[in-house]
Amino acid sequence: MSKVLGIDVGTSGTKAVVVDASGIVAGVGHGGYAPTMLRSGWSEQPPEDWWTGSQVAIQAACRDASCDPSEIEAVGLTGQMHGLVTLDASMSPIRPAILWNDGRSQSICDDVESELGIDRLLAATGNRMLAGFTAPKLLWMREHEPDAYARVEKVLLPKDWLRWKLTEELSTDVSDASGTAVFDCEHRRWATDLLDELDLPRSWWPDAAESVEVTGRITEEASTETGLRSGVPVVAGAGDQAASAVGTGLVREGMIGAALGTSGVIFAPTERWRPVAGGTLHAFCHAVPGTWHLMGVMLSGAGSLDWFRSAVTPDLQEHPDAFAEIERLAAEVPAGAEGVMFMPYLSGERTPHADTDARGGFIGLDKRHHRGHLARAVFEGVTHGLADCLDLVRDADVRADVVRLSGGGVKSSLWRQLCADLFDLPVATTTTTEGTAYGAAMLAAVGGGLEQHLETTSRTWIHETDRIEPDEDGPRLLARRDAYRALYPALQRIFPLLRQS
Ligand code: XUL
Repeated sequence: MSKVLGIDVGTSGTKAVVVDASGIVAGVGHGGYAPTMLRSGWSEQPPEDWWTGSQVAIQAACRDASCDPSEIEAVGLTGQMHGLVTLDASMSPIRPAILWNDGRSQSICDDVESELGIDRLLAATGNRMLAGFTAPKLLWMREHEPDAYARVEKVLLPKDWLRWKLTEELSTDVSDASGTAVFDCEHRRWATDLLDELDLPRSWWPDAAESVEVTGRITEEASTETGLRSGVPVVAGAGDQAASAVGTGLVREGMIGAALGTSGVIFAPTERWRPVAGGTLHAFCHAVPGTWHLMGVMLSGAGSLDWFRSAVTPDLQEHPDAFAEIERLAAEVPAGAEGVMFMPYLSGERTPHADTDARGGFIGLDKRHHRGHLARAVFEGVTHGLADCLDLVRDADVRADVVRLSGGGVKSSLWRQLCADLFDLPVATTTTTEGTAYGAAMLAAVGGGLEQHLETTSRTWIHETDRIEPDEDGPRLLARRDAYRALYPALQRIFPLLRQS
């Protein structure tokens, strides 16, 4: 049976999935690595890690699927968005990539926004210049590493570095290009006037294709290194959020995605170009050709629970399922955590409070509270943040009929119910647990000619497994959201005082 491969260049490792022609996951493989946190708020990774991680992941996925890599008929790429890869004249990385969760360019963003004006940026791209995005990192390099900057010939996003290694083609796709801060998302092309204003050469940026387009073929050299057959097509693919949306069937308006991963994301496909006033939500191209999406990104989603496990429950470190144990602690405490609130801004925040200085905290503690309350407050605080993002989607008049959940957090029934209650909508899980890499495989199946259209493929490949409705605890929690929101303006005065040096 024909097989396609989806590769997801993640932050903690690369995942590969082999999917057969009926949409069944035949094998999964992983190649791990870690980001380097040089100092608070900085995050880097050598692109070479993605290449070695991918080689390991491809071999492991094929072994798991009991197939040979040479049986793969098309490849789709996805990965962490916004990362800056700079290449010199020999197409070698000049420095480690600066990643999506790196906030060093905040002052550059402030300067650009005050010089050009937010309205000018929104008109050119549909989006604000946010510290996580790619172009401000390049401007940071110009200011702080002029020698390295002088050697830049090309700029790539993380998955597109892998494409270069596999096909020797420089290319990207419209959904990932949307997160650079210099892409005209409405017209699906580079914002050349803005690039001129910022004095960034257009020639550095690769052409952007629709996600299902074939952008190159596996070279002889890549074939020797991966076992994939030379000549096999590699489709443009998508940024990880758009690929995950495809992989959970979010291909039309009305279906909303909530990703409970390291970052927490609300994703809303839109059939028309519909940017949001003030740029409070990202307005990006979707991987479904000719459509767009709105997106809110919280930088510490399930990441807040990872932090909780290591900081508050170190005794669970060796536990075979520490996450389930934390969920059990939280479930013993009533909704609202008896007054304890958690502000989930451990890594600063992007949506709805674009503020790299934001920091986390527990508020409302008294002597009766124990770590179960803290655990419950973490689940609730992150979900309140996601609900804030969803409200912005509703304010933009985008229909919200159902929320499909993805990411590691979907394993928690407590969290699924909290989502239903705080979103005040039914929430569903889907058959696909490999979301992002699976979405890339779907793009490969369509682009490689094994399937016709994303919409029909999504209907036949992806099904809802479980639907939860909001329950009677919902209104009580909703009332609590007002308290949570009222707190934010006060916190905003505190964050700058906590700034890390
Ligand atoms: C999306 C975003 C993250 C990264 C990391 O805007 O910043 O989802 O892509 O996975």
